[in-house]
Amino acid sequence: MISRIKGTQDVLNLTVFNNVIGQIKNHLALYSFIEIQTPLIESLDLFQRSLGQDTDVVSKEMFVIESRQQNDSSERICLRPEMTASMVRAFNENGIQQVPWKVFSYGPCFRYERPQKGRYRQFNQISMEIIGASSIGYDAQFITMLDRFFNHMLQEIDYTLEINFLGCSDDRIVFTDALRIFLNNSSGICSQCQERKERNIMRIFDCKNSVCKDMYLNAPIITDYLCDCCGGDWHQLQEYLKALSVNYIHRPTLVRGLDYYNKTVFEFASNSLGAQNAFCGGGRYNNLAKELGAKEDQPSIGAAIGVERFLLLLEACKNESDASLPASLFSLVMPMTIAQHTQALLIADMVRADGLQSEVLLEGSIKSMFRKADKLGATYVLIIGETEQQNKIVKIKNMKSGHEQEVPYDQIIHYLKQ
Ligand code: HAM
Repeated sequence: MISRIKGTQDVLNLTVFNNVIGQIKNHLALYSFIEIQTPLIESLDLFQRSLGQDTDVVSKEMFVIESRQQNDSSERICLRPEMTASMVRAFNENGIQQVPWKVFSYGPCFRYERPQKGRYRQFNQISMEIIGASSIGYDAQFITMLDRFFNHMLQEIDYTLEINFLGCSDDRIVFTDALRIFLNNSSGICSQCQERKERNIMRIFDCKNSVCKDMYLNAPIITDYLCDCCGGDWHQLQEYLKALSVNYIHRPTLVRGLDYYNKTVFEFASNSLGAQNAFCGGGRYNNLAKELGAKEDQPSIGAAIGVERFLLLLEACKNESDASLPASLFSLVMPMTIAQHTQALLIADMVRADGLQSEVLLEGSIKSMFRKADKLGATYVLIIGETEQQNKIVKIKNMKSGHEQEVPYDQIIHYLKQ
């Protein structure tokens, strides 16, 4: 038997997935976001330039693809590992003039990671971006928008919002110098942190090693190294969030794994998810448009929800009574013998034509048909035996109340709609 590729999933019922997409679409409409779509395949160069060569995603996790008929061997193509770079590319390439450009998109992304619960090689993101928005008020509004959504959807599930402020590139030069001095004076950091110290120093804060983690509790923190402008924005962001009653934790070690961020970064996480606990992450990326070839910088902010992780959380949210609810079906037509099959198909067709859900049972004994009706959670069962067929009626049983009524064919819709 041929199996699916490691780290991918067969989703055998998309109802909950579609429901989440529907709910986020409604929520984003309140904030005037419009939906866009970009390709699943992009040039490898796009992500090398945006996420950074030394990030885990680019250096270890890209799916680079090859066409058998590739004419232009200079262009290397990959499956997208995220959507922000694609959306900024689309902004540049389509010459969007109207800013802020408030857009969202959802769909599969691909990263060659070690698969485990909440971590897949193909997963879905809902990516939301405001391109061309410099005021820090946008950050506050964006984070609040997400928090309101999660609050509504997750109800009793505990989640946290962690925020940090990475400043501008000048701030990071001053900060990383201080961090390097700190690391040079500390002994015993792990080999991965030694490597990160040389290549991407701020990523040392993502180390899982307990010795390193303890040591970094005393490391310098970036918010102490902000210039006046960034310091003012950081202060203002906190004030806005306080005024909007958004609870958050300032985590000075939150750096995020992609190079394009500056100033605000944030993550929504929940302990109910286990090791892969972040279900949404984002931040500000003021220089990305220019880095990808635009004439001018476009200060921007965005985030992506990891749909599979969010679904895992919703699963945890579902209480026992919800879980035990049977499936639901509006109406089920039951012909008693094969002689009524045509009539049953016609009746179901008529019911559906009026926008009402209907199924027909064409197999099994009466007893097994009723068992099936219970299993399917049918509200109405429409029974047609020989007598009903002759008299052009159906017997409609309300499965909740047990009430039965004989209804002529031409009044079935009227009766069901009551
Ligand atoms: P990210 O933090 O790399 O950010 O991914 C966002 C979310 O996607 C994560 O919080 C997680 O829920 C989910 N995710 C990431 N990798 C996997 C995986 N292997 N399996 C399952 N879920 C995963 C970004 O991608 C940025 N583009 C977010 C952004 C938008 N920043 C600004 N705008």
